[in-house]
Amino acid sequence: MSLAEASRRLGHRVHALGIVDSTQTEAVRLAEAGAAEGTVVTASHQTSGRGRRGRRWVDAGGESLLMSIVLRPPVSPNRAPQLSLVGAVAVADALRACAGVRAAIRWPNDVMVGERKICGMLPEAATPRPGALGHVVLGIGLNVNQAEFPAPLCDLATSVRIETGRMTAIGEILEGVLSALDRWYGRFLTAGLDGIREAWLERAQSIGRRARAADGREGVAVDLGRDGALVLRTDSGETLRVLAGDVTMEASHATGD
Ligand code: BTN
Repeated sequence: MSLAEASRRLGHRVHALGIVDSTQTEAVRLAEAGAAEGTVVTASHQTSGRGRRGRRWVDAGGESLLMSIVLRPPVSPNRAPQLSLVGAVAVADALRACAGVRAAIRWPNDVMVGERKICGMLPEAATPRPGALGHVVLGIGLNVNQAEFPAPLCDLATSVRIETGRMTAIGEILEGVLSALDRWYGRFLTAGLDGIREAWLERAQSIGRRARAADGREGVAVDLGRDGALVLRTDSGETLRVLAGDVTMEASHATGD
């Protein structure tokens, strides 16, 4: 282990599995059994990969980074979704550092190259008692070595290989993600969302785009609130704050079905 790795908070223990139903399920099991913060589960293929909003996350096997990481931040449960904002900044940085891919974040936590999704994130929190956050398992699905995607995904999804024209070792991307996540998660622990908000805004593609809240009201996204809400300005000049799951971005896609 290098000195840099030894001083990291995350990734000291990596359970590298083959075929599993979902790395989330495995990581939740480990977290419930007391696994330390930073414990990582990876898999070569998932038979029941989970996406956001109950969607499936489908992978072809051996081509994606499929990982779940156990986090135990000392924050209230309503702040758990903020961890996927942290994760999105880290993945965007890792893609740049490991593969030279310029990615941008679509609120709240999709990582995009242009209009195509390269990575999705799923934070799942456990609250053993009201108001107490036990752990958060942050799942990351990143398309690495897919040469192409079948229709209709081909218009919606991309991979590191499609963007660079070459294969990249999934382990190299995992290391890059862990190192970037360690850095940004450290800032989140010391400064809260303020520690990553500027970085998120610099990497965001959502600001300036139209978005629709769950109640049907629409507006242009103008900011990321200090609580992680997306701030919309409606055509009538009203300011709306929407939380993850309550908004549809224009040109919104998912890699999962
Ligand atoms: C989304 O964009 O809908 C989130 C997708 C998250 C997928 C990853 S793959 C690794 C981890 N295990 C799962 O079952 N889901 C997450």
